[in-house]
Amino acid sequence: MSTRSGRVPRGRARRRVGTVVRLIAALILAGGLYAAFAPGVYAEEDPQLSQAAKDGKAIFDNTCVSCHGRNAQGVTDRGPSLIGVGSASVEFQVTSGRMPLARQEAQAERKPPYWSDPEELDQNARLLGQYIQELGGGPQVPDGNLRAEGGNTLARGGELFRVNCSSCHAFSAGGGALSSGKFAPSMAAATDRQIYAAMLSGPQNMPVFGDNQLTPDEKREIITYIQNLKEDKDPGGWGLGRIGPVTEGLAIFVVGVVAVVFAALWIAGKS
Ligand code: HEC
Ligand code: HEC
Repeated sequence: MSTRSGRVPRGRARRRVGTVVRLIAALILAGGLYAAFAPGVYAEEDPQLSQAAKDGKAIFDNTCVSCHGRNAQGVTDRGPSLIGVGSASVEFQVTSGRMPLARQEAQAERKPPYWSDPEELDQNARLLGQYIQELGGGPQVPDGNLRAEGGNTLARGGELFRVNCSSCHAFSAGGGALSSGKFAPSMAAATDRQIYAAMLSGPQNMPVFGDNQLTPDEKREIITYIQNLKEDKDPGGWGLGRIGPVTEGLAIFVVGVVAVVFAALWIAGKS
């Protein structure tokens, strides 16, 4: 018993030393492998990006990369580079449903957004915007209230709108045709942020209205004017579904015919 009990611990000790040696060898090997492969991994992941931008990149690599290419550098004949367009352009394109583009056409149109849940849409547009912003910079829509206040806002907004926007979008912001199948769309569905983003990014044939062309305050005045135009539903005439003069004429005609019929019955009853 005494000899066995003396040998067993020595055997264990040797085994333990063996384990330690193997462990160290494994660590060195792992370290070497890490050193060999780690730089490549890091270069691809781009340590510069914030977490939000990385989340945006993941969405981008799923839904946009086929047309806009790796790192948003663009793909010939499919989609332009997005370097430098800023989060404003991304927000405008994604929240108005224009992007991701479904098919090639003369002009990307407003359509039901890719993400139908409004919160998910807002979140994903922001993450995508953050990614494009961190890749190449560019204009951004400011946070907070985008309406102007003060007595002269509507007058000034209206003036700025007529000078800068109505040539394409019509005086009512209802939109109008441009050349070769293109058009300036109605602003009926546009939110404050989308109008601001459209001015900052100048989609398609629309010019860019940078902050030196229209100051942020002037942009707010224009937005207030446009949104007021929509809320002020019937600036003239009766509100007969706003289908136009035909409905109004029809209404007058129907009322008139009914009146004549009643008059005839009344006269017939008298005689
Ligand atoms: C089927 C191809 C296609 C897909 C998918 C697509 N795009 Fe586009 N994108 C285009 C084309 C073509 C244009 C340029 C034409 C236009 O602006 O109407 C464009 C324009 C844009 C612009 C405007 C660039 C500028 O100059 O201001 C942005 C921003 C944009 N895309 C973002 C996205 C994002 C974000 C996604 C993914 C959610 C996406 N796109 C998916 C084809 C695509
Ligand atoms: C030279 C013509 C032109 C002028 C001037 C112009 N736009 Fe546009 N606008 C366009 C075109 C074209 C589009 C459509 C772009 C697209 O679908 O990608 C557009 C789109 C828009 C949209 C998006 C509408 C939507 O909800 O789908 C808004 C908002 C808008 N413009 C606001 C303005 C404002 C505000 C001004 C004045 C400060 C202005 N535009 C001046 C041509 C113009």
